[in-house]
Amino acid sequence: MSFFTVTNLRVNYRKNPLGIDDIRPRLSWVLVSERRGFVQSAYQIEVAYGDDFIAALVWDSGKIESDRNIHIEYTGPTLKSRTRYGFRIRVWDDQGMVSEWSEPSYWETALLVSEEWQATWITAPSSPEDTDHEACDYVRSDFTVSGQIVSARVYATSLGLYRLFVNGEPADETLFNPGFTSYTKRLQYQTYDVTALISEGANTIGCMLGNGWYKGYLAWEGQKELFGASRAALIQLHVTLSDGSEQVIVSDGSWRASTGPLLRSELYHGETYDARLTIDGWSSPGFDDQAWPNAIIHQAPGATIVAQENEPSKVTEVLKPVAVITTPQGDTVLDMGQNMVGWVKFTVNSVAGTVITLQHAEVLDRDGNFYTGNLRSAKQTVTYICRGGGEETYEPYFSFQGFRYVKVTGVPKEQLMEHFVGCVIHTALEPTGSFACSDELVTKLQNNIVWGQRGNFLDIPTDCPQRDERLGWTGDAQVFIRTAAYNMNVVPFFEKWLKDLAADQEPDGRVPHVIPDIPIAGHGSSAWGDAAVICPWTLYECYGDTRVLETQYPSMKAWVEYMRAQGDNEYLWNTGFHFGDWLGLDAKENSYTGATPKDLIATAFYAYSTQLLAKTAAVIGNVEEAEQYRALHERIVSAFRAEFVTPSGRVASPTQTAYVLALMFDLLEEKDRPRTAKMLAENIEENGTRLTTGFVGTPYLNLVLSRFGYTDLAYRLLLQQEYPSWLFSVVQGATTIWEHWDGIKQDGTFWSDDMNSYNHYAYGAIGDWLYRVVGGIDLTEPGYKKIRIQPEFGERLTWADASYNSIHGTIAVAWKRMEGGAFEMNLTIPPNTTAEVFIPEIHREGISESGMPLDQMIGLVRADVNGEGHLLHIGSGSYRFSFIPNTSFRGGIKK
Ligand code: BGC
Repeated sequence: MSFFTVTNLRVNYRKNPLGIDDIRPRLSWVLVSERRGFVQSAYQIEVAYGDDFIAALVWDSGKIESDRNIHIEYTGPTLKSRTRYGFRIRVWDDQGMVSEWSEPSYWETALLVSEEWQATWITAPSSPEDTDHEACDYVRSDFTVSGQIVSARVYATSLGLYRLFVNGEPADETLFNPGFTSYTKRLQYQTYDVTALISEGANTIGCMLGNGWYKGYLAWEGQKELFGASRAALIQLHVTLSDGSEQVIVSDGSWRASTGPLLRSELYHGETYDARLTIDGWSSPGFDDQAWPNAIIHQAPGATIVAQENEPSKVTEVLKPVAVITTPQGDTVLDMGQNMVGWVKFTVNSVAGTVITLQHAEVLDRDGNFYTGNLRSAKQTVTYICRGGGEETYEPYFSFQGFRYVKVTGVPKEQLMEHFVGCVIHTALEPTGSFACSDELVTKLQNNIVWGQRGNFLDIPTDCPQRDERLGWTGDAQVFIRTAAYNMNVVPFFEKWLKDLAADQEPDGRVPHVIPDIPIAGHGSSAWGDAAVICPWTLYECYGDTRVLETQYPSMKAWVEYMRAQGDNEYLWNTGFHFGDWLGLDAKENSYTGATPKDLIATAFYAYSTQLLAKTAAVIGNVEEAEQYRALHERIVSAFRAEFVTPSGRVASPTQTAYVLALMFDLLEEKDRPRTAKMLAENIEENGTRLTTGFVGTPYLNLVLSRFGYTDLAYRLLLQQEYPSWLFSVVQGATTIWEHWDGIKQDGTFWSDDMNSYNHYAYGAIGDWLYRVVGGIDLTEPGYKKIRIQPEFGERLTWADASYNSIHGTIAVAWKRMEGGAFEMNLTIPPNTTAEVFIPEIHREGISESGMPLDQMIGLVRADVNGEGHLLHIGSGSYRFSFIPNTSFRGGIKK
């Protein structure tokens, strides 16, 4: 009988994924053991067809001596297409005990060879009345299954968005398929398990097509059809019968096409649905489609068709409105209580032809009126025309809105609370983090950060989800990714996006400002393009997976080489267009760019990315290039010093962001760092404990302050409630993170309409510091194999609770200031990892664990002491430390 178990089996981070085309999937598992200091000494993996590990064994890894339980590549026989592989795992611990076999999990391969696509691309004919082809398409086909069904899978994709129906039912609950990729190069398909929807005899498959990112309006100049003018679908259904035979149903010219009630659908602008045009039973057998013309064969796009990699988008939560308001201007407005992204679903019972409109907005103006100025041209309006004759329910198909308030017409006010709900939609990433502390406003800030992430992670990481933009701005993604990786498991999401980034990179390595790229967005800005390097590296650090580095290495290298070719000297980047310290508060009047020189920022990021590239080369075993880029990095740093640091060691541009970058990226000589940190601190103090940093400096500001001993100042910045500060918007009632510190000013007026999002995650990057410094959860080895626990308690909070469900399992820290100045700190360290825990107490006898003196503590490997406290080296398990900080201790703040 063993006392540990193997759980939470994953394939490429996902549980039981269907339809993956990775031929070397990575398997991970989590160990459960109460025993302190649990270490895995060996593992064994078995993979079988289905879950018959006896008769249908495909691969047995044998007993592998290893303490690794994450990202073990499948190296068995070549995987077959469209096959379910079950797998199970057992492990040995360091005492020679072996676990039971885990419960089996599985993955299913998709179409591994492109020749397996037998389906033909089809599109619907345009009607003469709708030359723009605004109305959404409906395509359908009937088919008969003769035999007993064992399983059925649909593989499908589209140009534009699609929704699949089988026998009148949605194929599953996923939305916004096929997702947003660099459509001209990469197009995803989805796999659906429709076994339960198909029966012997007559069946029907139907598909709705909408514009989406492909054909619809995209970006801020009213452009549309950026990728193509016609929608099209590719659908292939495989039905496996009990006699082992297979029936394949594919889209082709025999399918029928029509338009229907969905007269218009645009991501930004909303939908128009005339329910009087409802086509009853269109996706069910028995429907007479004689009047529908045949679908037209559409030329296959040039893009590579790839299996969906990230988690799908779904409704993840349904919110009830908190109030119905009549505004001073007399509008009836629903308040959802939360700035959310998704749509409203409603049920009404009205006479035929009644027009219901829903307009969506993020905020009310200072008089309490409905305000849509900041949406720019995005209409965010749903128009529904009732069919009449009973209850009817509607929710959009291919449009999403960013909103807290909904102005409704056409429905009696008293029906709104009961019959209208907000469906929250985003990529259904697994939540992994939580953070709360004794300051309610800070806890609310964390909550707002998570809502910002939810709203802006709808298939791609966007800048904002409401105005006519909603694009994959690289700079925003880069600054937020580390915080994002605490809050949710983001790897498949970013792996997919980074492949698009690589696909969209110019031959000279330039990175577009937005990914997927669009013609008007431009490319090549420092700190934005660096997403090519910073994002893969961050994923590697947080999840310990080298695959993303191997895959992205050419792209990372190309970006660094691009930078190298730009400056008028190989080691400085002092040319070209840059956004600079975007929205920095030290900007000149009417400028969006902060005062920090752009060439300083560009060279700082050039150095940083080159350093990360050198590390990447080393991790993936490219020794030669690791050395070359290490040497290049050194030269860039020297050039930085020669250009931007005075001979006596002072950063020549005295801005907060210049100090922050120089310190964060280790660009200064060791001797000059403390002084620079002090100058940064003084600059903040002189500015009334306020920051002036923009997009580039803000994410690192508190991290730098803490690293150089100014955690107290970092806390004061965090707790600052006056503009500009993180809590200013919280105090104003924000439920998400704003693009501008003063999106709504103290007097209730707004920042100008032209660029004012109330759901922009970039400044939410403070979440990294909350988890790492306030919660104290950090790593010293990728994937949290070695954990560093060092909360900096500060004097301003009495407790904080942080937890992070790492790839190795849950890490949790809960600290509390007790009566009399003592502290209690509860920790959870997952099995098969180790941790260094810093306790700010220099006297060994001043520390106890679960009521026992440190000397008798179970699981303590080593205790090092220095002038500040003890560094305890421990293994996995749950611990309860108590200590009274020594007298020189100033609340955990390094001097
Ligand atoms: C976006 C930003 C983005 C910026 C580039 C804005 O419109 O909303 O977040 O990074 O453009 O400067």
